[in-house]
Amino acid sequence: MRSLVAFGTKYGSTEKVAETIADVLRSSGHTVDVADLRRKPMYEVDDYDMVVIGSSIIVGGWSKGSKRFLEENCEILRNKKVAMFVCCSESYLRPDEKEAQRKNFLSNVAEVHGLEPISLGLFGGEIDFDKYGFMVKAVLKKVGVNREFEDAGVDISQRFDFRDWNDIKDWTMRLTQ
Ligand SMILES: Cc1cc2nc3c(=O)[nH]c(=O)nc-3n(C[C@H](O)[C@H](O)[C@H](O)COP(=O)(O)O)c2cc1C
Repeated sequence: MRSLVAFGTKYGSTEKVAETIADVLRSSGHTVDVADLRRKPMYEVDDYDMVVIGSSIIVGGWSKGSKRFLEENCEILRNKKVAMFVCCSESYLRPDEKEAQRKNFLSNVAEVHGLEPISLGLFGGEIDFDKYGFMVKAVLKKVGVNREFEDAGVDISQRFDFRDWNDIKDWTMRLTQ
């Protein structure tokens, strides 16, 4: 089985999620390539049996590179085994709204591109205010993100990693069954 893991990211934390997914697939015997969609991928989607596509969620949507990848490849992807995932903060901050988040960030994106993924992974991410510029910090404060994290007991002066590696690995294992 040849698999491609293609990921979009703004601040880099989704890369380790994609690498972890790739490692789990390799441990199950897949031959895996990983495509960082910040750059034009050098892989042909048609060469793979399964394509795992993911992105971080920034201001409610997928990254530019991952959106472009979906648009450019959706016709080929319709005939492939496809799985999709996102990394976001809402799943951590508002766990009781996971079904709505799965719909907004995953099912709707799949539907718009005519895809029927075998699985949709809704994962946490990482918050690191040291990486954000002045404007981004101001916007996050204004829309109440700082407050939401503080209310959840998170010290946002430190990098906060809320990626659940066991969840990510279990989800990936199920793709191989
Ligand atoms: C400017 C900004 C906007 C964000 N917007 C959202 C959002 O709308 N919904 C959400 O669930 N998470 C949001 N997040 C959280 C990110 O999805 C999370 O930090 C993720 O791990 C970032 O992944 P990346 O480092 O791969 O880009 C936002 C984060 C930042 C910095």
